[in-house]
Amino acid sequence: MDQLLRSPAITAGLTKVEARIRRLSGSSALPAINAGAGRIVSAGGKRLRPAMTLAASLALGKALDRRVITAAACVELIHAGSLVHDDLMDRATERRGARTLNAELGDGKALVIGDFMLARAGLAAIVNVSRPVAEVLAAVVVELAEGQYLETADLFNTARTRQNALRSITGKTAALFRAGCLVAAVCAHASAEDRARMAAYGEKFGLIFQVLDDLLDLTATSEQLGKPAGNDLRQGVYSLPLLMSGADLDGLLGRDMSDEQVAEALRRLRASRMTEETIAYCRGLAADALAALPVIHDHEMAGLLYGLPAAYIDQVERMTHLTPVS
Ligand code: FPP
Ligand code: MG
Repeated sequence: MDQLLRSPAITAGLTKVEARIRRLSGSSALPAINAGAGRIVSAGGKRLRPAMTLAASLALGKALDRRVITAAACVELIHAGSLVHDDLMDRATERRGARTLNAELGDGKALVIGDFMLARAGLAAIVNVSRPVAEVLAAVVVELAEGQYLETADLFNTARTRQNALRSITGKTAALFRAGCLVAAVCAHASAEDRARMAAYGEKFGLIFQVLDDLLDLTATSEQLGKPAGNDLRQGVYSLPLLMSGADLDGLLGRDMSDEQVAEALRRLRASRMTEETIAYCRGLAADALAALPVIHDHEMAGLLYGLPAAYIDQVERMTHLTPVS
């Protein structure tokens, strides 16, 4: 991941994407909306999704023109807008070390600022990029809402199936990575086959990203995460790593778990095969991602895109080994 984000070609493009994100998030007629949206986009974030859009564009031989820069900015704006909604639904008070909009302004204002960000991305895509790109982005907002709905519908469901968990994360996370790669291919006027290949690569990587995020929620310490460990357990999100663990959690899961119950559930999960199973699953997804990639003539971008899935899995695997099993 660091390699991608540190590539000079990508960082040069990301500087332009950043300026575009700031312009778009500050473009409301209402200064209070600009202030709220501006706070969210300034609060950090790795800009991984737009970086992948830029890498996919360069990989397909397309220079980083205004259209692809705007498309990448729209992808990040959709991500940031969806996080505003997510924090509201989670009643979260902090993200990336900053107070959430719902904590700062109340739910109503946070909700409409999130809406503004999603809508503004759609408007920029249709006006400043192209109709096909706008279509991809409109479709991904539909998928985000569906994926999040599926997660919400399964909260505290101890009979949740792996298939349902997979369907939810495909919509709520993988779809936006897929769209980020696909818009690059659309801007590059790539063939239908190359579009499908780039999209599949993005989706597989997006799945890896979410599955590992879910694993870290159950294995990393609160210090490593910057938020309380076991958040998903408390909130009733029984994620794919938990469902693959084979751990006996009978009688432990449920609403209003005590700190002791959360600690015991985490202990059992960490003592189970959860980490090995999850990492192995992700390595399978990584193989699928690489197999999907189209032929890439740009040497540097080929290295970055081929290396990204395994590098991220290795990074998370190292983190999980650093966590003492208590
Ligand atoms: C963060 O994941 C949340 C998402 C990836 C997507 C959230 C999507 C929505 C709230 C739907 C948005 C609505 C529209 C209309 C697009 P997480 O909750 O697993 O991770 P976290 O620990 O960062 O909160
Ligand atoms: Mg959340």
